[in-house]
Amino acid sequence: MARKLKSFSRPKGGTLKKSYNMIIAKRRKGALEIQFNRPDRLNAINEEMAEEIMHAMDAVELDRKIIAVVLSGDQRSFCAGADLGGFQDLPEDRYDNYRARYNQRKNRLLYRFFMNYTKPVISAVEGYCLGGGFEMAMMGDIIIASESASFGLPEGRHSLIPGAGGTQNLPRLIGAPLAKEMIWTGRRISGAEAKEYRIVNHVVEQGKALVKVREIVEEMKGVGPLATMMTKQTINRGMDMTLQQGFLQEADLAYMLSWSDDRTEGLKAFSERRKPNFKGQ
Ligand code: COA
Repeated sequence: MARKLKSFSRPKGGTLKKSYNMIIAKRRKGALEIQFNRPDRLNAINEEMAEEIMHAMDAVELDRKIIAVVLSGDQRSFCAGADLGGFQDLPEDRYDNYRARYNQRKNRLLYRFFMNYTKPVISAVEGYCLGGGFEMAMMGDIIIASESASFGLPEGRHSLIPGAGGTQNLPRLIGAPLAKEMIWTGRRISGAEAKEYRIVNHVVEQGKALVKVREIVEEMKGVGPLATMMTKQTINRGMDMTLQQGFLQEADLAYMLSWSDDRTEGLKAFSERRKPNFKGQ
């Protein structure tokens, strides 16, 4: 006799907490806005902050009303990198520490979490954006800087290396020679220079980075959320592929949208000369 198969139940998201210790996380006009909140440490990332960022982002990933995640710090600092107070490595713990860095250490896991995140992540940078803070912004999708922004990977000055994706993402953004110079000197660059290198999309007046990001989120509302999810996937995957492989995976993801209700709605709305009503399904 044929087995009766149960269908998957629709996955449920988590719940955004009312308050966190190291971040302020709020839904605002279709975005989850996460503000880092350790001003006395220039918003350096510790384990708790990394865990809270992941918790908040995870809580909205399945929320269809949220189209993007916005990261910001304060006027003095977006984020000054990993909390340098957290680097003790006792000899007897070394191999456990090695093992822990993949999953247990939240400030390592954070970067892989970003890599797999399906919604756009946009950073609004005022002030310092250094080390792991810069690496986190690069793991996201778009960076907007103000004139006060200062980007750098100064890890070498502590005989560390940018170990949260910086040695891979920065050369992909600006090319190996410039990335090496930044990493080997630890030099900080201004928002304007970062724009010249194409690290940031726009440089705006001091204090206006978040305003600009909110404008972009507003504009993104005109695009179907499934199309945004698929293009994030195909662009990110394609970066590591040959052009031919890139075209093929792009075609597959394009085809996957064929049976979405939103695609039907988008085309119908166009022919009826009205705004589409996308549902994310
Ligand atoms: N981890 C922990 N604490 C940090 C920090 C970090 N990454 N960056 C700054 N802080 C703390 C400072 O220790 C200082 O604390 P204190 O007031 O208790 O002394 C406070 O934040 C303010 O920093 P301060 O150095 O006094 O400010 P500044 O304006 O003179 O210099 C920086 C700002 C960003 C240039 C400087 O703090 C710095 O170089 N920080 C380290 C950046 C870094 O190397 N990041 C990569 C880490 S792998």
